[in-house]
Amino acid sequence: MRKQLFKNIKGLVLAGEDLPTLLRGSEMNNLPVIYNAFLALEDGEVIAYGPMTEWEGIIDWRDLEVIDADGKFVLPAFCDSHTHTVFAKTREDEFVDRIKGLSYEEIALNGGGILNSAGRLQQMDEDQLFFLAIQRIEKMIACGTGALEIKSGYGLSVDAELKMLRVIKRLKSHFSIPIKATLLAAHAFPIEFKDNHRGYIDLIINEIIPVVQIEKLADYIDVFCERNYFSVAEMEEILLAGINAGLKPKVHVNQFSSMGGLQKAIELNALSVDHLEELTDLDISTLKSGVSIPVFLPGCSHFLSIPFGDAKKLIQENIPFALASDFNPGSTPCYNLSVIWSLACIKMRLTPEEALSALTINAAAAMELSTTHGTISLGKKPGIILTKEIPNLAYIPYSFGENLIERVIV
Ligand code: NIG
Ligand code: FE
Repeated sequence: MRKQLFKNIKGLVLAGEDLPTLLRGSEMNNLPVIYNAFLALEDGEVIAYGPMTEWEGIIDWRDLEVIDADGKFVLPAFCDSHTHTVFAKTREDEFVDRIKGLSYEEIALNGGGILNSAGRLQQMDEDQLFFLAIQRIEKMIACGTGALEIKSGYGLSVDAELKMLRVIKRLKSHFSIPIKATLLAAHAFPIEFKDNHRGYIDLIINEIIPVVQIEKLADYIDVFCERNYFSVAEMEEILLAGINAGLKPKVHVNQFSSMGGLQKAIELNALSVDHLEELTDLDISTLKSGVSIPVFLPGCSHFLSIPFGDAKKLIQENIPFALASDFNPGSTPCYNLSVIWSLACIKMRLTPEEALSALTINAAAAMELSTTHGTISLGKKPGIILTKEIPNLAYIPYSFGENLIERVIV
């Protein structure tokens, strides 16, 4: 058994028992912090914590790794509830095209974008995709990510979608952190189905979903509901087929337009509704009436120069929400959640505490990991971030681009 004791922790953040599974409104800014604290772990499980004045006698000193955290903060690992980590090739050529004036939507209409990634992924074998994803996830963990969701959606054929999901399944057993898999065959229409939407939807429903169900290849089902992608009615049909196969919806809506996808997803009790760069008053009142967790992706807003979601408004309306990276080669080549934390503060005007709530406790809920992740609580194995010496918590998002994480234990 591996026993670790952190002592003299300057601030132990989000440690507590009986915390709600979702923080909302002013709760997001009022995080529990124990100053001058200790934390004891056994094989990563939280077995004791509290102020330094109370630690003596609680700990069995034998075979213990003692970590002096003087001047440093300890936080629960971040949870990244929305990523596209399995892909074949980066797309910096499109990045340069956008710098020169083309829009993301124009590039996609010219056969770039998701279709570009799908073409590359179809050519690559499963082992190579697996190997590339391992390298990326190792870097994500080093940046503090302690739980991860990964979507398919760069296959866009029966074989290639299943190949992606099998890679994700192998990643689940390779890593000690939890990884959730999402079927996103409805990410874009393949060229050969451009004028035959029915044909591709039939493939998803009749050929992909049944195999996914038999081989237990996914936890969730996603659809990119957007103009030029999937309509609300198309999304509904695919989500219902997924629900029938035991997959909860977790969807891409309101990235470029508000077209009713959010309402439909909430009606179908989606676990989360993600992107939300465009939010109308009606969308906000629908969010308020439903149980789906809104997830904002500020890395995507930043990289594509599109609006940032109005998270501040959700705080005012007492609606809980999460933040995630959206890591993918087209719209967000960044997996570093400290950068996402900064963007949320700088561009969405969230306080450091509000943004951290959305990256930990609320993000764990957006991937059904509240019982194990998101807070430092007895019996949980949330993954632990030990920072470098910092003056306060706000210093992390403030010093954007600087790596202030000394060690991550998962
Ligand atoms: O979440 N919006 C749809 N899908 C991805 C981007 C996919 C791509 O450009 O490769 C996203 O931003
Ligand atoms: Fe995405």
